[in-house]
Amino acid sequence: MEILSVFHAFLIIEIMFISVLVVSCNHISMKGNSRSNFLFGTASSSYQFEGAFLNDGKGLSNWDVFTHEPGRILDGSTGDVAVDQYHLYQEDFDIMNYTGVNSYRFSISWARILPKGRFGKVNRAGIDHYMKFIDALLLRGIQPFVTLTHFDIPQELEERYGSWLSPHLQEDFSYYANICFKFFGDKVKYWSTFNEPNVMVLRGYMYGTNPPSRCSPPYGNCSSGDSEREPFIAAHNIILSHAAAVNIYRTKYQKKQGGSTGIVMNSIWFEPISSSLEDKLAAERAQSFFFNWFLDPILHGRYPAEMHELLGDDLPVFSKFDREILKTGLDFIGINHYTSFYAKDCMFSPCEPGKGASRIEGYALRTALKDGVYIGEPTSIEGLYVYPEGMQKAVTYIKERYNNTPMFITENGYGVEEMPNSTDDELLHDVKRVEYLRSYFEALADTMRSDGADVRGYFVWSLLDNFEWTYGYTIRFGLYRVDYGTLKRTPRLSAAWYRQFIADNPLQILSAHE
Ligand code: BGC
Repeated sequence: MEILSVFHAFLIIEIMFISVLVVSCNHISMKGNSRSNFLFGTASSSYQFEGAFLNDGKGLSNWDVFTHEPGRILDGSTGDVAVDQYHLYQEDFDIMNYTGVNSYRFSISWARILPKGRFGKVNRAGIDHYMKFIDALLLRGIQPFVTLTHFDIPQELEERYGSWLSPHLQEDFSYYANICFKFFGDKVKYWSTFNEPNVMVLRGYMYGTNPPSRCSPPYGNCSSGDSEREPFIAAHNIILSHAAAVNIYRTKYQKKQGGSTGIVMNSIWFEPISSSLEDKLAAERAQSFFFNWFLDPILHGRYPAEMHELLGDDLPVFSKFDREILKTGLDFIGINHYTSFYAKDCMFSPCEPGKGASRIEGYALRTALKDGVYIGEPTSIEGLYVYPEGMQKAVTYIKERYNNTPMFITENGYGVEEMPNSTDDELLHDVKRVEYLRSYFEALADTMRSDGADVRGYFVWSLLDNFEWTYGYTIRFGLYRVDYGTLKRTPRLSAAWYRQFIADNPLQILSAHE
């Protein structure tokens, strides 16, 4: 209650400012879209939000182990407590309810359900927790949009056989997915198998910055690994794990439970740095080595041609049996979109060293600068630039390449580093975040209207500040500020803006009260 009244007071103070912003974005309402079930929500993940890291029988995850190793996380922190959503979910769902969202994207902690993977018992307390969690959402009319794994997996599987490097993981993932469908499938209508497997394998097996931190020079500095091969092996096992899980859903549950399944990918828009054919091809290769890498096999049954050409035998092969399983496809594509880069050809002419320039990255150098000017305003996170047109171009590209498969923007948001000694006003008056969200919405709405892109929902990352992976708690993405000493949630200007935006949106009004 306290939070809501602070919010009211805050809203009154800000109301004039917000009205200006709302007026300026009224023209972007999605009236042209006739679907009445458009999802507006916020997104999160188990490791970044839950805390309660060994409570009620949960097993260790790879991220629990990684964050406890000295030197891994910028501020030396862990997700042991995070924002303690494990305990504070009722309060968080009240906030969501107040904000007016009709969906919440979160992930299940695999190690909370299966502390030892398939080599141990199902943790009943974990099942009960998510059951209560999902019921509490539904009670407020908020649709659960569930990711099965958002980077965290039981440590047991890492130790037994090197996690995603082993084809055994396909069996583990199917076993876990089946349990989730069985227990929660009557209540959950949106399932995504993976969050950003492209980011997961690149950071985990090419650059080595995330667990299991494997890589080889010059891509990173790890004690073991093989950057030229392992990312592609891990990706292959993930693609087949996705297919196996979707297959289980289709054959055992979908008819009865009536839900849908997809995969969430990180999407970067790669803009050719010049109008030359070489740079255009480089931008296309950059897309293939980052995004199409996973979706082409899932939706077209094979890896992109550019990957075959450049990787040769380093690219694993799908067997006849695999190709059969892959036909199961998906029902929707989840798109996490935050940034764009220029792509510069390195195949036909030599490039300076940098991300993207090598053979295994598609010979397409990523750069944010063209003639000394950034593609978009830099943010506090390295590599994230504000370029809303990139959202539009990415959605159109995905729509065309994958035959307008239904899409959700499963993440989009703005991170900032809080300066010590900031005033309260500076902590809460997040005008830049509001501007970012407004401009990205505008770009999305344009694509939906002008190109007929079948986008069915939008999730802001995130409702609350949270554990930002290797940045620890130094970068904040929340519509609500979290005081990490007390865990108190306080609304920022962007929370009021999002609430007003949703309230003004006719699509949302229809869907929320159906
Ligand atoms: C991830 C989130 C992360 C966000 C902001 C996405 O890549 O899915 O877990 O917090 O970006 O960096």
